[in-house]
Formats: sequence, C-alpha cells, structure tokens
Amino acid sequence: MYPDLEGKTVIVTGAASGLGKSIALRLGREKANVVINYHSNHDGVEDMIKEIEAAGGKAIDVQASSSEEDGVKKLIQAAHDTFGGLDIMINNAGKENEVESHKLSLEDWNQVINLNLTGYFLGSREAIAYMLEHNIKGTVINMSSVHEIIPWPHFVHYAASKGGVKMMTETLALEYAPKGIRVNSIGPGAINTPINKKKFEDPEQKKQVESMIPMGYVGEPEEIAAVAAWLSSSESSYVTGITLFADGGMTKYPSFQGGKG
Ligand code: BGC
Repeated sequence: MYPDLEGKTVIVTGAASGLGKSIALRLGREKANVVINYHSNHDGVEDMIKEIEAAGGKAIDVQASSSEEDGVKKLIQAAHDTFGGLDIMINNAGKENEVESHKLSLEDWNQVINLNLTGYFLGSREAIAYMLEHNIKGTVINMSSVHEIIPWPHFVHYAASKGGVKMMTETLALEYAPKGIRVNSIGPGAINTPINKKKFEDPEQKKQVESMIPMGYVGEPEEIAAVAAWLSSSESSYVTGITLFADGGMTKYPSFQGGKG
C-alpha cells in the first residue's frame, strides 16, 4: 500500500473494464479519489463505486469520449468540481483489431490511432495544463504495450499507436521534468482481460501465447494495477520517461531461452 495516495485525485480513462477497471479499483483501495471514465459500457460501474467507497476511497463515474477534446475537458472539469484537483492522469482507453495490413481500412486505422494515440495526447495535454495552472507536481501514466517495441503483424495500427505513445511519453517527460511533472508508460504483455478473452478461450492459442512468455503464464490485471499504483505514488518520485514493462519477460527475446542462437 502507498499511504501518500490517500486523498489524491486520479482520472482513469476507459475504466469500466479490463486493465482500467483493475487500476481504478486498486487506486480506490489506496483511498484515492477516482474519476471512472467510461464511453458506452456502463455495466458494473455502480458496483465499482461501491467497492471503492467500502475500501475508504471516493469515486464518481463520468461518461466521455477520451479521444475528443470536449470529452477530455469534461473529465478534468469533473475532477476539479468534485474533488478539487487532479494529481494523476491515467490514459488507458484503447482498442485493437486484427486485420492484414494490406486490407486495413483507413477507417480502422483512424479509429485506433484516434483512441490509442490522439486520445492519450489530449489527456496528457489537458492534465499537464491543469497541473501547471494549479501548481501541482502531478503525474501522467500512459498505458502502452510490449508492442511499443515489438512489431506485430496484422495489428499495424495498434503497434504504430503504441510506438507513438512511447515517444510521446519520453518527450513529455523531458519537457515537464523541470516542473516536477512525471510522465511514464506501462507496457503490459499478454494479460487476462476482455480484449483477449476470445484468444485465451482457445487452448491452442493460449498455449502459443504462453510459449512466448518466459515466466510461462498470462498475467492478471491486478499485476498491472500494482505497477500503476507504484508509478502513481511518491515511491517512484525519481522515475520519469520510462516504460515499465510488466510482461513476464515477453520483451526479452524468449526464442533465445535455453541458450538457443
Ligand atoms: C495486446 C494483447 C496481446 C499482448 C501481447 C497487448 O498489447 O493488447 O492483445 O496479447 O499485447 O501480444
């Protein structure tokens, strides 16, 4: 647990399911004030709020599109109006779909880039502007992926968005370090979330993915939420501009395991 997170205000985009949900619940258990952003699926959000309140945190839900300027401004305003500030911005909402690159439509490309990259830029820009205006030494966390460095055939839009997130994180970290605002990314590997449900329900596909993970298992959302809690807390006060990979070793060239090569 990180006692300094008590009473801090955090926005988590795309927090109604998957990694965003786990992160929101974890920060709620740390007694933070959590702005739970959702886009269209509101299922389970009321229960999340109850769970956070029962743990001693506070939470509100805000419907907004995190890839649109108005949506992001609405989130910041809600944090300000309800909790009186903003300390931690977690850009998390994202999507992916599998298509061979020579068949990928411009519409699919734009949708993924808009949500996964432009949305993160807008969230970062608005959060940093707010922190500067209110003299808050806050922190921004971008949910990236192992695919910010691992090329991923059939997911060129997704991989390109995550490569963009890597450079955006590093650039913003450098730019705002003198103001005491830290900007970091988290790079999850294969995690047991709804986005991967279909893939991991098929035992063959699951085995195939596990063979690419040196630690041998698909990660749980709570293992990513733990990283987000640490990066949100002052325990990571000297850390900025990194991607913290939480991937069971997936980025470490697993095919070389056992001395191959
Ligand atoms: C994707 C998952 C994938 C994992 C490892 C993540 O960024 O969201 O679908 O299993 O990378 O390839």
